Amino acid sequence: MDNKTQRLLEMDRQRVFHASTHLKQYAHGELPGRIISGGSGLRITDSEGIELIDGFAGLYCVNIGYGRTEMADAIYQQAKQLAYYHTYVGHTNEALVTLSDRIINMAPEGMSKVYYGMSGSDANETQLKLVWYYNNVRGLPEKKKIISRDRGYHGSSIASGSMTGLPLFHAHFDLPLDRMKHTVAPYYYRREDASMSELEFSQYCADQLEAMILEEGPDTVAAMIAEPVLGTGGIVPPPQGYWQAIRKVLDKYDVLLIADEVVCGFGRLGSPFGSIHYDMQPDLITIAKGLTSAYQPLSGVIVGNKVWSVLEQGTDEWGAIGHGYTYSGHPLGAAAANCNLDIIEREGLIENAAQTGAYLQQRMADTFADHPLVGDTRGVGMLHALEFSSDRSHRSLFDPNLKVGAQISAACLEQGLIARAMPHGDILGFAPPLVATRNDIDTIVDKTHQAVNQVMDRLVTSKQWQAK
Ligand SMILES: Cc1ncc(COP(=O)(O)O)c(C=O)c1O
Repeated sequence: MDNKTQRLLEMDRQRVFHASTHLKQYAHGELPGRIISGGSGLRITDSEGIELIDGFAGLYCVNIGYGRTEMADAIYQQAKQLAYYHTYVGHTNEALVTLSDRIINMAPEGMSKVYYGMSGSDANETQLKLVWYYNNVRGLPEKKKIISRDRGYHGSSIASGSMTGLPLFHAHFDLPLDRMKHTVAPYYYRREDASMSELEFSQYCADQLEAMILEEGPDTVAAMIAEPVLGTGGIVPPPQGYWQAIRKVLDKYDVLLIADEVVCGFGRLGSPFGSIHYDMQPDLITIAKGLTSAYQPLSGVIVGNKVWSVLEQGTDEWGAIGHGYTYSGHPLGAAAANCNLDIIEREGLIENAAQTGAYLQQRMADTFADHPLVGDTRGVGMLHALEFSSDRSHRSLFDPNLKVGAQISAACLEQGLIARAMPHGDILGFAPPLVATRNDIDTIVDKTHQAVNQVMDRLVTSKQWQAK
């Protein structure tokens, strides 16, 4: 390691509070650090000149790939012309107007306005406030509970972290808040009754949702929030018929649907939005990540007509809405998003996510469907997961202490590939930039194959596992 890298990393350990990190181990030098210094296309480079293929597009966000100077130019031009103004009481800027019109035109039918934030978490906080306000305007002050799903991920702030259905984000933070409930995940692979078809399992999930609404009291349940495809909870596409069955229950009890499209939005599934891909017909949509491909922090809440007209009515009764962020509708974010959408359109990246994504699914299935360590291969578009199992025919879990998923992710890294060990279960996640070519996919699959075999050999040699 060169001197400068060493000095910077030492200072980093002393001064930077890292996200999702074992704080003590990192601060005391027991976990490695890496200084990322550049990126181009699918690849990032560190301060020692090591190049890595980013099979997870950062945190499924750098959809147009790294190093797009066109994005830097768009942000620079906007900064020279107008770096900032707020959106309070009717102030706006041209980049924002253009962007909002484009988003509504891309979104599923029935959408009206976009409210902007800086992160997926804050956008989901906005969702919650809007839903509560909506039911206050309608004279339904008791109708406030939010149902999300086990394994759902909606952020890590207080309300969004409560909606998240992963224990890691609740434990020791006094979460979730009382109004947040969690129903079953549409996790077909891990269904208890192995004899169930996908359609039967979807109906089971809808029945569980209905039972929860009835138990809580339909007059107390305001909304369900859900990702079109479960992301951080394990990259799990919904089983056949899931969204249709869920929508029916929500309609029956006057419960809104918030589609959290932070990962799926803007092309990752090979469709403009996950809600379009699965015909979810949401009332509200959360966007972030792929909106700017993370070149600027920008998120949004797309409000459908039904909710919008009630919000208008509320301000008629009570005056201006008491919700606003200093950086809402930031011109630099808007300029980045417009340029990002230009690139997505011009380069046909949504179509590429569909076509090259299908190739990714196929190659993974061909390579791993019969692999002794792999229980499930699943995905859609440019999202894929391999789930490892100690006994495939029984879908058995590995002893968590073996950290098989993390070992395989580390072995991928040794091969120069970033594939993410998902936080819950032995699951390896892939979400490459949407610019990935078939060649890139071949490289990703081949490196993963080597890494999985390497860990399998290690497990066998150390007598920690044997093929069943
Ligand atoms: C579906 C979903 N919603 C919300 C969030 C939270 O976004 P942020 O990390 O920008 O707060 C994420 C982040 O990964 C996400 O995947």
